[in-house]
Amino acid sequence: MSRYEPASIPSSEITPESLFLNRRAFMRNSAALAAGASLVSPASAGLQPDDDVTPEQIATSYNNFYEFGTDKGDPARYAHELTTEPWRVTVSGEAGKTGEFDFDDIIKGMTVEERIYRFRCVEAWSMVVPWMGIPLKNILQQFEPNGNARFVEFKTLLRPSEMRGQRSFFSGIEWPYVEGLRLDEAYHPLTIMVTGMYGKTLPNQNGAPWRLMVPWKYGFKSIKSIVSIRFTERQPRNTWNMLAPNEYGFYANVNPAVSHPRWSQASERRLPSTLFDPNTRPTLPFNGYADEVAGLYAGMDLAKYY
Ligand code: MTE
Repeated sequence: MSRYEPASIPSSEITPESLFLNRRAFMRNSAALAAGASLVSPASAGLQPDDDVTPEQIATSYNNFYEFGTDKGDPARYAHELTTEPWRVTVSGEAGKTGEFDFDDIIKGMTVEERIYRFRCVEAWSMVVPWMGIPLKNILQQFEPNGNARFVEFKTLLRPSEMRGQRSFFSGIEWPYVEGLRLDEAYHPLTIMVTGMYGKTLPNQNGAPWRLMVPWKYGFKSIKSIVSIRFTERQPRNTWNMLAPNEYGFYANVNPAVSHPRWSQASERRLPSTLFDPNTRPTLPFNGYADEVAGLYAGMDLAKYY
């Protein structure tokens, strides 16, 4: 059994809060359970001995979600202005089943797994978060991507009326936020679409109702509040690369050996981190997931594909 393959645990050991917190959490997470699927135990691939889970209060109040502002506190302050129900998702491009789908229909009957992952932002802070999600491969394959599909592109909702950051030109971002993965990265078993965290429905500031999680890449790849999935033959564009191509690439694999032009990536501040106690630790290649994912990049110049 590979390290990231979770073992089943009896449902009696699952915290009730994780499923019955509110109607939506119940509906969305139990959609999977109703079909006889089970919520499986935390997978702990890549975790280091001193990787304690980051307090929930921190992971849900220190955020990057520029649609709500550029301050770390803005998403928690303003993301409640976003309506996430109903949530429609457009699927397009190189696939057999394209069109507009209801989010709940897409995830219906799928197994929600809890995965405790290390999370490393390109800004050199990090955390350890118990995400709840669905392997991205399971989600994507239902749309029957065809032989031309080599990449997948995701877009965040564009709704300036509810996303105040989209009404401001301050960030310089061209909305909507876009990201992409090579299809083999998207199909890797560590790659999940997150629908919850800390046993609860995903809070708006963390990307409700669903967001990507690719634990070996810098956090900006993990696009939030997704409304569009497009299968493509050519490498899609991605927001941070468009904004600063000399600072951010497409692959964005965590790499302590390649510095950001303005700071080192050799170490990271593990939240909670303060001026007096930065709580610094060394950054690991592929964020600690090298054993699982390095093979995806065989033959590539990793120093180049930052
Ligand atoms: N997705 C969208 N749509 N908008 C954003 O600004 N920020 C990214 C990523 N996904 C971002 C986004 C960055 S830079 C990081 S580090 C993570 O979200 C932060 O995720 P968290 O707030 O859940 O920790």
